[in-house]
Amino acid sequence: MKLELYTVGALLLIIAAANGKVYERCELARDMKSYGLDGFKGYSLPNWVCTAYYESRFNTNSTNLNSDGSTDYGIIQINSRWWCNDFKTPRSHNACNINCDVFLKADIGPAMTCAKRVVSDPNGMAAWVGWKKYCNGKDLSQWTRGCGV
Ligand SMILES: *[C@@H]1O[C@H](CO)[C@@H](O)[C@H](O)[C@H]1NC(C)=O
Repeated sequence: MKLELYTVGALLLIIAAANGKVYERCELARDMKSYGLDGFKGYSLPNWVCTAYYESRFNTNSTNLNSDGSTDYGIIQINSRWWCNDFKTPRSHNACNINCDVFLKADIGPAMTCAKRVVSDPNGMAAWVGWKKYCNGKDLSQWTRGCGV
């Protein structure tokens, strides 16, 4: 009986890892910090948390089709025309050298690595419409408040 419970638990963990996750604000803030985003290219941690909220509502499962036929993937909506390969976007550059589906999983590590590549371009965080519209120039302190980061 006990063994069976462990088996069920292990299966649930595997399913959770494969099927994405909705992050809680402070959990995401801590994870993003651990991936070195706080201050990366001059953007403080609240910029990253704010952008993830407006891009995906903290859901790694999130996908959105763009008018040019490309798709944005994951918690920070990385685009298949430039950064990842989804095997259906014409002339994808795949600059992060990764399958877009990886960005939909619960582990945000690969998305954070690619986000660092994205923000390293001259446009910086203006690459994200959510940042431009809702985070840039705003008081962002609420995004990491009470998180101990
Ligand atoms: C993510 O998508 C999969 C497949 O559509 C679904 O089974 C899963 O429940 C979703 N997870 C979240 C956190 O939305």
